[in-house]
Amino acid sequence: MEIRLLDRRDASAYQALRLQALRESPHAFSASHEDEAGRSIDEVAARIVPAADGSACVSGIFEAGVLAGFVALVHLQRKKLRHGAELAGMYVAPAYRRRGLGAALLRAVIVHARSIDGVRQLGLGVNATNAAAQALYRSAGFVSWGVQPRALQIDGVFHDEEHLLLRFDAAG
Ligand SMILES: CC(C)(COP(=O)(O)OP(=O)(O)OC[C@H]1O[C@@H](n2cnc3c(N)ncnc32)[C@H](O)[C@@H]1OP(=O)(O)O)[C@@H](O)C(=O)NCCC(=O)NCCS
Repeated sequence: MEIRLLDRRDASAYQALRLQALRESPHAFSASHEDEAGRSIDEVAARIVPAADGSACVSGIFEAGVLAGFVALVHLQRKKLRHGAELAGMYVAPAYRRRGLGAALLRAVIVHARSIDGVRQLGLGVNATNAAAQALYRSAGFVSWGVQPRALQIDGVFHDEEHLLLRFDAAG
């Protein structure tokens, strides 16, 4: 197993797995398959290459050289927001689930977030009914601070989003 930041050479594999994620787990993402299906490989590459200002990057987890999962880390550069980072778009392909890949990817992105100068907490939003992801995040120490009612509307059905936070400095 290898975990590393994705770059331009990963664009095709990432786009294939991302579209699979949006098809297979529509309730887990705010983006829809229709939003992203038409993107060119150049557009995808531009989205996954680590931003020059450090505001976003995507980590991938590989098994035998095959991309099996990914997660994005967003670090907004505004001065008043720089103490926080956000995790987004976490996914492990069904064939690789329940083997510890999600937990390994999450550990790696937490280590990365902690290493960014000034970052003291990591937040994320998760569908309130997504038991697998909720369990994964809570086992890593994330705690809930609120629920946004009707955050997503998918095929006419509303879904609440739970907001979780992992504070690196529990005291303050
Ligand atoms: C959530 C997801 C990333 C977990 O990936 P994974 O590689 O299967 O996770 P792991 O094998 O590392 O499991 C880690 C922990 O997560 C929890 N977990 C994972 N899958 C679970 C499930 N189906 N039911 C309950 N808990 C689950 C467990 O606590 C597990 O620890 P354990 O195996 O010791 O019980 C994966 O199921 C996925 O991609 N789901 C669809 C997309 C999604 O929901 N993304 C999250 C968006 S916020």
